[in-house]
Amino acid sequence: MTEPHREDRAASFERGAGAYHAARPGYPTDVVRWVVPEGARDVLDLAAGTGKLTAELVGLGLHVVAVEPSDAMRAELVGSLPGVDARAGTADATGLPDASVDAVTVAQAWHWFDPPTASAELARVLRPHGQVAVLWNIRDDETDWVGRWTEIVHRGDTLTTVYAEPALGDRFTAPEHATFRWAAPMRPADLRLLAASRSHLLVLPDDEREALLDAIDELVATHPDLRGRDTVDLPYRTECWRALLA
Ligand SMILES: C[S@@+](CC[C@H](N)C(=O)[O-])C[C@H]1O[C@@H](n2cnc3c(N)ncnc32)[C@H](O)[C@@H]1O
Repeated sequence: MTEPHREDRAASFERGAGAYHAARPGYPTDVVRWVVPEGARDVLDLAAGTGKLTAELVGLGLHVVAVEPSDAMRAELVGSLPGVDARAGTADATGLPDASVDAVTVAQAWHWFDPPTASAELARVLRPHGQVAVLWNIRDDETDWVGRWTEIVHRGDTLTTVYAEPALGDRFTAPEHATFRWAAPMRPADLRLLAASRSHLLVLPDDEREALLDAIDELVATHPDLRGRDTVDLPYRTECWRALLA
């Protein structure tokens, strides 16, 4: 198997927008409140994808600009959040004016960015003392069936992804960290779709992807905590960091 380049993986979401929107989790309200500073009005949701976090930010009454490079992901966002200002752009070039937002959120995406370039762009678009927040939903693999699901979706994956404190550089204060634990109820059958939305599977040849999805189906059909269930709770911890423009 050839190792896909990080850039190919980052761009792979263009092929999986429907699965992503249908199967990926959103964000609990306490997370969303933590990643936006009090008094913020204008927020850039960078790498907004299909709008999972954007929807929550809009729900808090914030004025949100969603920037996302993938046309297919952005189309899902516009379909579900028709009033939101959604623009094509990247972490290197958001297209926003200087000092135009109070906060930037980056959910499930910092690992696709070049940190020095992204940090410089965030420092440019934030107003003085504005806040950047970086967050990831991470499955709690200590639950047996979750660990088995994770083992399957990582089979053959040679790309190392680090979900850790973002290197924001000296334009920002030292990041503050918080962990939120919660669970997303889902139908066991949707564990296949959740797997199909992952970048590793999106770049695989069809036969290799089908083999992994078949293994997921087998897990759902045979694991005692999944077999015959209408819904199960998928446990998550959301790891969040926030820092202010110094
Ligand atoms: C896992 S999705 C996260 C989407 C959304 N933030 C969420 O929480 O569901 C990652 C997103 O990052 C986008 N992306 C990848 N590389 C990027 C870059 N250099 N700049 C901005 N977005 C990027 C992808 O197109 C994809 O929509």
